[in-house]
Amino acid sequence: MQKTVSKAKNALQGEIIVPSDKSISHRAIIFSSLACGKSTIKNFSDGQDPKSTLNIFKKLGVEIEQDNDCLTVISNGKLNPSSNILDCGNSGTTMRLLAGVLAGQNFNSVLSGDLSLSNRPMKRIIEPLSLMGAKIDSDNYKAPLKIYGRDLNSIDYKSKISSAQVKSCVLLAGLNTKDFGVTKFTEPYLSRNHTELMLKSMGADIISEGTSAAIRSSKLEPIKMTIPGDVSSAAFFIAAGLIVPNSKIILRNVGLNPTRTGIIEVAKQMGGNIKILDKREVCGEYVGDIQVEYSELHSCEISGEIIPKLIDEIPVLAVLATQAQGETIIKDAQDLRNKESDRIKTIVSELKKLGADIEETEDGMIIRGKLNLKGGHKVRTYNDHRIAMSLYVAGLICEKEILINEFEWVNISFPEFEYLIEKLNNK
Ligand code: S3P
Repeated sequence: MQKTVSKAKNALQGEIIVPSDKSISHRAIIFSSLACGKSTIKNFSDGQDPKSTLNIFKKLGVEIEQDNDCLTVISNGKLNPSSNILDCGNSGTTMRLLAGVLAGQNFNSVLSGDLSLSNRPMKRIIEPLSLMGAKIDSDNYKAPLKIYGRDLNSIDYKSKISSAQVKSCVLLAGLNTKDFGVTKFTEPYLSRNHTELMLKSMGADIISEGTSAAIRSSKLEPIKMTIPGDVSSAAFFIAAGLIVPNSKIILRNVGLNPTRTGIIEVAKQMGGNIKILDKREVCGEYVGDIQVEYSELHSCEISGEIIPKLIDEIPVLAVLATQAQGETIIKDAQDLRNKESDRIKTIVSELKKLGADIEETEDGMIIRGKLNLKGGHKVRTYNDHRIAMSLYVAGLICEKEILINEFEWVNISFPEFEYLIEKLNNK
């Protein structure tokens, strides 16, 4: 589907409720399927990725009923083998977390994915799982993964990369080891910690300290939870509110877990007028409303510890940086090349077409602003939902309209994206 985006006619004004968090939605399904009893999950994401996770657990014999955005999960804590290939679609989180669950079962499974997922690196999970005794066949460390379920041992694993997907995979395998030892995962910088928080609230024997988390084989209690809004979806509105002249918007019900809010920290550092209203705690996660006003921005350097806290927001931060005075440098973000697309290459090439002064580096990019984006070009999403939405935000400030190819990929995480932008723009 080709999408035409023209310069925003009006300032963005008003308020929206940000849709459900994708990362937490995946985990809510996975962990409640492993718990014994009835769980209820409210505000479940309607993105395609969490649906992939949900469909797989149905195939593994878990009873899941859906009433709009409310799910009831009834499980005896045990999974059944599936004679079908388990299709993870576009979702790296589904494949990597599921591998940790399935490696320790007493049956075999096959996980497959779409073209993009089949090209993403799986060595990062196959390696630690193999050290735990898992047997996984792959196509040179790429999907499909054939997992031969067997008893696993605990492990003390030091990961070279900071990754919540790898961490969650190892912790989920550690939840079900047969030697009942401690499985410890340490990463260079702390990545999102939803797995640790949710497993703890479900009664798992898990301890977090600094950049490590340690778990013992445990039984999980069912949960009742309401999933907060996704700060990674809010990020597109934060950026749009900051760069569309005279905008003032409120984003309601956004998850504010400190391992996810790097975008807010950086946008404030760049001079963004952002206020958090009514910060509260819902089911162990911080939630709040975010007020964003159009601002004069200046450049900054984004590197090191903050990178995992904004890893998914870098494409839209690049758009923001085109409107900031000075040179914004993004470093230490090499792993962006392993996402749904090589996000360093794809965002740099497409923003260049729109007139940005932006340059690719090995582990990030350099953006020089402030420049008026000319637009007037066709750009590509590379079948990547976050590239699609970042380009749409750029289109709102381009002088001439832009055409975005393959825009339907937004459905992976945020089907209502355009509707909500239009709602704020027409007020
Ligand atoms: C996610 C972790 C991140 C992120 C992805 C979702 C998760 O990936 O990019 O969109 O839910 O655990 P990595 O852990 O590979 O950095």
